[in-house]
Amino acid sequence: MPESIYGIHKDVLPKVLDRLISSIKAFSDGHKEKTGEAAYEHLIYRIKSEDSMREKCRRKGLPETAHSALVDIHDAIGIRIVCCFLNDIYENIDFIRSIPGVEVVKGKDYIRNAKPNGYRSYHMIITVEAPFEDPEGNNPGKFYVEIQLRTIAMDSWASLEHQMKYKKNIRNPEMITRELKRCADELASCDLSMQTIRNLIRQEH
Ligand code: GTP
Ligand code: MG
Repeated sequence: MPESIYGIHKDVLPKVLDRLISSIKAFSDGHKEKTGEAAYEHLIYRIKSEDSMREKCRRKGLPETAHSALVDIHDAIGIRIVCCFLNDIYENIDFIRSIPGVEVVKGKDYIRNAKPNGYRSYHMIITVEAPFEDPEGNNPGKFYVEIQLRTIAMDSWASLEHQMKYKKNIRNPEMITRELKRCADELASCDLSMQTIRNLIRQEH
């Protein structure tokens, strides 16, 4: 088997990911005990595969090394948190910011500033400090993690749009693109209404 692009850090990545996932799950469990509702609907996570990481290095003109994969590229570890309501997204963000050892490197709010195609999500790049050596020789090391936060509506839209992007020979791409954009905007409007209704229900007692 050829050597991993993640080099000696390969086995550390799932450990870094596990620690973070445990902490996010514990937050949601605590939230559920306090409020009766979990902080998110579901969450998925992955370590980027060897093949896609190597492909990304080539695409970016970077050498295929652990340094490129873990220092220049920031999504070797990826988490997606899917929430029922808009406000839940911002509660999760506040929690993530507060985790000891976490530093926010970049936050991109594609919810308030949707992409031209209609894509919406909140993207964070963070570093997590963990008791393992990183490619720069620090121990405890710093490991980059990309976190995407979105509502269920945004999530189903993104998977539909993703399907379209990778489908060749679409007969009427302009029409599909336009309809997708229209759907994205309608879903965004529904997400706002749902949040408003939830707030009203909560005021009832
Ligand atoms: P790179 O990932 O290094 O190319 O960075 P970037 O600046 O392009 O990051 P960006 O935050 O725009 O996107 C990162 C990830 O968000 C992607 O890998 C997708 O998972 C998701 N994403 C971003 N834009 C879109 C979009 O238009 N449609 C869908 N379906 N997903 C998107
Ligand atoms: Mg990208």
